[in-house]
Amino acid sequence: MEFVLYEVKDAVGVITINREKALNALNSQVLDELNATLDAVDLDAVRCLILTGAGEKSFVAGADIGEMSTLTKAEGEAFGKKGNDVFLKLEKFPIPVIAAVNGFALGGGCEISMSCDIRICSDNAMFGQPEVGLGITPGFGGTQRLARLVGAGMAKQLIYTARNIKAAEAYRIGLVNQVVSAELNEAGEVVKSAKDALMDAAFKMAAGIAVQAPIAVRNCKKAINEGLQVSIDEGVAIEEKLFGDCFETEDQKAGMGNFLKKKDDPTKVKVVTFVNK
Ligand code: CAA
Repeated sequence: MEFVLYEVKDAVGVITINREKALNALNSQVLDELNATLDAVDLDAVRCLILTGAGEKSFVAGADIGEMSTLTKAEGEAFGKKGNDVFLKLEKFPIPVIAAVNGFALGGGCEISMSCDIRICSDNAMFGQPEVGLGITPGFGGTQRLARLVGAGMAKQLIYTARNIKAAEAYRIGLVNQVVSAELNEAGEVVKSAKDALMDAAFKMAAGIAVQAPIAVRNCKKAINEGLQVSIDEGVAIEEKLFGDCFETEDQKAGMGNFLKKKDDPTKVKVVTFVNK
């Protein structure tokens, strides 16, 4: 692949959008490669994904403006569908996805981060939906997901004014879960760059997810995602089904068995290795 890198470390898969010269802007090829990368993830071996952008400056600076500049109405719609199809795949991906946002997350960049389950960012990150300044609407789900994440009033303000916001404000409005800074020594010198600190924080969070019972984690993702689309009555019915689905699994027996063993004898092993069955 030319623009997407994928590596796996300790049950955590890292997808890196690698088009640094264009600040990792999403053209059709990047979208196709992302799609193929997701299809190739080995769900038996990987329990959490991290999505990031190459370099320190930009996560994703949006959909590719050069490619979009000459599109017809029909081609614009098809390009929107292409992005939306990949982002929906990411949103519905069976295992959790953490967006590690290093720098610009504008337009399609903000939108792809919102398709992930959790966003953490470096303190130089900037989020925004600048599309109306380009004469278009957000086209990869921004009008839908931003409103769901930060509320309709705040989403409308950000989208109508095309105003970009810094990491601290993104945190304040609940768009990101965590902001990570470079680590400095006592002399004020950088000992770990913001990007490295961000990736360490993302790995730490991913590892904390990867050790949990995988069927249960997947079912939680499904229950939350599907429940958000329906009434509370339908939502709890979805939860009941997915809750029930966890029983009789080896992981449920191991998890609960471990708890009960510990009660009998506190010296018994506390760490359960879940097997995804
Ligand atoms: N599409 C295509 N190329 C892009 C790009 C984008 N979205 N964003 C940056 N680039 C390219 C630039 O053209 C430039 O390429 P060249 O070196 O070949 O000229 C390179 O990346 C570096 O960019 P800048 O020189 O502009 O870097 P900067 O530090 O001065 O500015 C920036 C950084 C503020 C992010 C600026 O690049 C920018 O405003 N980019 C566009 C952001 C944007 O409007 N994104 C939304 C796109 S629309 C969208 O995403 C629609 C949708 O919802 C689907």
